[in-house]
Amino acid sequence: RIVAVIMVGGPTKGTRFRPLSLNIPKPLFPLAGQAMVHHPISACKRIPNLAQIYLIGFYEEREFALFVSSVSNELRVPVRYLKEDKPHGSAGGLYNFRDLIMEDNPSHIVLLNCDVCCSFPLPDMLEAHRRYGGMGTILVIKVSPESAYQFGELVADPVTNELLHYAEKPETFVSDRINCGVYIFTPDIFTAIQGVSTQRKDRATLRRVSSFEALQPANRSLPTDFVRLDQDILSPLTGKKQLYVYETMDFWEQIKNPGMSLKSSGLYLAQFRFTSPHLLASGDGTKNATITGDVFIHPSAKVHPTAKIGPNVSISANARIGAGVRLVSCIILDDVEIQENAVVIHAIIGWKSSIGRWSRVQASGDYNAKLGVTILGESVTVEDEVVVINSIVLPNKTLNVSVQEEIIL
Ligand code: GDD
Repeated sequence: RIVAVIMVGGPTKGTRFRPLSLNIPKPLFPLAGQAMVHHPISACKRIPNLAQIYLIGFYEEREFALFVSSVSNELRVPVRYLKEDKPHGSAGGLYNFRDLIMEDNPSHIVLLNCDVCCSFPLPDMLEAHRRYGGMGTILVIKVSPESAYQFGELVADPVTNELLHYAEKPETFVSDRINCGVYIFTPDIFTAIQGVSTQRKDRATLRRVSSFEALQPANRSLPTDFVRLDQDILSPLTGKKQLYVYETMDFWEQIKNPGMSLKSSGLYLAQFRFTSPHLLASGDGTKNATITGDVFIHPSAKVHPTAKIGPNVSISANARIGAGVRLVSCIILDDVEIQENAVVIHAIIGWKSSIGRWSRVQASGDYNAKLGVTILGESVTVEDEVVVINSIVLPNKTLNVSVQEEIIL
């Protein structure tokens, strides 16, 4: 049997996701019409003999209660949210719930970061993991050498796929192969985490009786039960025939800011063509709006037949899209109203916002730039004929003049 664990983090981790994380936990933000964490959960469904999916985080339990019960019903797989009393790090959080996880007596634990967007090739990874015979297998991807420093960089044996070297976000270039935050472990991972924790406790005792701390400044502030998977577990286990890599040739992105959520939404919409074509809108331009490329429209949304929509557009529940509206590369959240002839390009429009007639909400579409995607927080009003370009607008603001390259607080 197999247990899957998705690390969802907590409120302090979502700050780069503002103003969108002011309303809901980042893992529940909709990409292609489904919560960010819904995508790895549906990927776990494809694992044979899956017993349970746990989400581990330090958000309040009530924030996940509704999602967890509806996704369990929808996918017919038991999903449970487990709350940490405080952050224990990506490995410490897992270790915290080891007794519960081991209740199902799993042969393998699938461990996933919630903030990555990929095809999650879990059955193939499991097969490779069994072949390698190690304690863990890490999903890796080749990225451009210029972007690798943002991730865990690693070197593996090209023949055996054994992990030989690991450097977490290094200052100088190590490798263009990076850690995707998708893992398969045997339950021995708990022994490895326990080892680091015990070592920390011993050091803490030593510190109290000597001046040892001066020699280990890097470890000074870490509590003994705080264990990071990358630095504390993966790094020390390299070159010991315990860890292996599985390289994906598919898409992969990390979702740390709203711009990347728009890009990821497009990647998931494109994947729906193969996995869930029924979720994609189709339009013939007469009764329905004209649809170009991959578009998701929630059944409760009302879209005028003269609107032109796509590619990469996702429209959430109860949104109203008026006559002559043009939407390109955007996420329209619940209860938004877009009035006649408005244009929205490379933008995320927050819950209950309203965009007036002939207005434009637009950006350059550079997903990594701070203002490359225009974001409107909850309940923002853009009045008629107002132009908003490359800007971020915090909740409850009304814009009656045009703005460009601005953060409106
Ligand atoms: N429950 C819980 N508790 N979750 C946590 C905690 C914690 O204390 N700390 C982090 N997480 C979750 C985050 O929500 C995220 O899903 C995952 O664990 C990893 O977060 P970080 O430890 O902050 O690392 P990162 O996202 O900057 O980088 C990691 O992921 C990259 C891939 O996206 C590293 O493993 C990199 O090497 C890797 O490239």
